[in-house]
Amino acid sequence: MFEIVEMQSKHVEDAAVLEKLCFSMPWSESMLRGELENPLSHYVAALDDTGRLVGYAGMLSVLDEGYIANIAVLPEYRRRGAADALLNSLTEYGKAQNLSFLTLEVRKSNAPAISLYRKHGFSVEGVRKKYYEQPPEDAYIMTLFLKKEM
Ligand SMILES: CC(C)(COP(=O)(O)OP(=O)(O)OC[C@H]1O[C@@H](n2cnc3c(N)ncnc32)[C@H](O)[C@@H]1OP(=O)(O)O)[C@@H](O)C(=O)NCCC(=O)NCCS
Repeated sequence: MFEIVEMQSKHVEDAAVLEKLCFSMPWSESMLRGELENPLSHYVAALDDTGRLVGYAGMLSVLDEGYIANIAVLPEYRRRGAADALLNSLTEYGKAQNLSFLTLEVRKSNAPAISLYRKHGFSVEGVRKKYYEQPPEDAYIMTLFLKKEM
């Protein structure tokens, strides 16, 4: 079980280490600090029972739209439900903020992440050609509609 807490500046160093482990173009500590200071952003951290940051996720809300910017879990803590808990937390936040949908981009080859998003009700709504660099790859745009009438 993981505790999901709002991310604070004391978590940023560990989140930057996690970024380097997970992504070819990682966000730096200063980029992460900028996100925490952005009133439109909402970031959550997954902590283990010792309080260690094992994963984090964040989103930006613009009007009634939520853009999930990142979600990552330490390799040795994967397949234990941390991403499920982080994504549930962002979805609850989105509903509480009365957002119409949550959307994100994901590499076409990222089967674990695509499976995670499908499990949470996201569907592929489009493709962004050559969205990623290092290596170049298309992105799926995946969206979870939060309001029934959409
Ligand atoms: C994608 C990622 C965040 C999943 O984290 P996780 O904590 O291992 O995921 P969970 O244990 O909560 O699993 C939740 C669901 O995700 C999917 N999933 C996770 N890992 C998977 C894998 N290796 N293969 C297939 N499906 C997987 C499954 O649907 C799983 O549900 P299930 O356990 O009921 O089958 C993690 O693999 C990661 O950090 N990857 C690198 C960063 C990344 O690619 N982020 C996404 C950028 S868009």
